[in-house]
Order: sequence, then structure tokens, then C-alpha cells
Amino acid sequence: MDSQTFAFDVYGTLVNPLEMSQHLQMMVGEKAGLLSQLWREKQVEYAFRRGLMGRYEPFNVCTQQALDYALKATDLVLTAEQQAFLMAQYQQLEAYADVIPGIQSLRAQGHCCVAFSNGPAEKVKALLQNAGVLELLDDVISVDEIQRYKPDPAVYLHLLKRSGSRSGSTWLISSNAWDVIGAKHAGLNAAWVQRSPAAVFDFWDIHPDKTVESLQYLAEEFSINSDIKR
Ligand code: LAC
Repeated sequence: MDSQTFAFDVYGTLVNPLEMSQHLQMMVGEKAGLLSQLWREKQVEYAFRRGLMGRYEPFNVCTQQALDYALKATDLVLTAEQQAFLMAQYQQLEAYADVIPGIQSLRAQGHCCVAFSNGPAEKVKALLQNAGVLELLDDVISVDEIQRYKPDPAVYLHLLKRSGSRSGSTWLISSNAWDVIGAKHAGLNAAWVQRSPAAVFDFWDIHPDKTVESLQYLAEEFSINSDIKR
């Protein structure tokens, strides 16, 4: 198989934002799961809304404002120090266990691997450095470079431009179904990473080209010998 470009979504695909619930547990006890879920949902919603409104602010602003909302909505109060701690921990999220071996394997097969995120490049680089993933990547590409948000088709076209790859040989790899649908809509290939059988893909008329349960499975799917093995 010809060399492909794999563009990995970051939050939810390479690292797990719901890990924040462990820190929240110590601060707010049993409401931690709800707070962390609401925080993540609002963060993504704010990016969608800012994109639609043409009112861009960096993704970390969406993250902070979503935390403010989630706290208020769950009737919780955290001090400025606690909030600063949480925002700092957001830069310390760990990679899922399959991420490093999966990307190493894709790279060893001669494929190009980049991160492609709503987060500003500097924040994403720091996060991936902490997680031990940055050194495995060819590049980090951010929507911040054009100040638009996923799933605006413009950001996927920006990815093609920045990576210098053709749509037919470029794959968006994401656990976020809306990101997969956005990439397909813009003409790229896309694989959905379904780590949990409970994760549901949106019932739209757009489907992923591949569904994999881990990045290691993804690497196997693209292994040079995969045709021989099956
Ligand atoms: C990202 C978020 C949307 O990394 O998951 O782009």
C-alpha cells in the first residue's frame, strides 16, 4: 500500500479528557463524573458555536468557559487556585495505552503521522510532549492557524494543505463521531476509533471508512502485509 497520511484528533482520541474526573473527585466527590462529562460536552459545544458565529477564541478559552458553566450548572464552587490546577492538569493528560505502539507501528510502515486538533499548536505540543507522543509525530497541525473550528470543511482542507497530502491518501483518525463525519464531508478518508462498545456513532448518511477499537488495530489494517494475512 502507498504511504498514507494519518491525522490524529487529540482530545478523546490520543488522550482522554475524562481523566479529569480523577482530579475532580478529590475536589467535588461524587459529582465528579457528571461535572467532567458536562465540562467536555460544553467545551466542544462552545467550539461549534464560536465556529458558526465567526467568533473565534482559542480552544483553551472554550475549555475554561465550559468549566465555569459546568460548575454553575452543577451548583459547585471551586477556588481560582483549584481551577488553575485543573487547567494545568489538562496539559498533563495521559495517552491511551494503544496510542504509542499504534503510531510507532504506522511510522515503521512508512506512513506519515500528524496530530490535528482544535487546540492551539503550542498547547497541543506541550500536552503530547508530556504524554510521550510528540516525538513520534511528523507534525502538529492546529485549526488555530486559520481560526476556524472542526467540523468546518475549511479546517480539513487546511490539514491537506499543511500536510501536503491528497484527500484520497489522507485519513482523519478520531474517536469523535462528529469529527469523522466532518472529515468525510470534506472529502477525506476517516476511521472511527471505538474504544468502548458502548460508544455510539451518529445515525447520519455518512459512515466511517473503517471502525477500529484501537490504534494498534488501525496499524494492522494498514500493514503492508495485511492483504496477505487475510
Ligand atoms: C481536538 C478535539 C476536538 O483535539 O478533540 O480537536
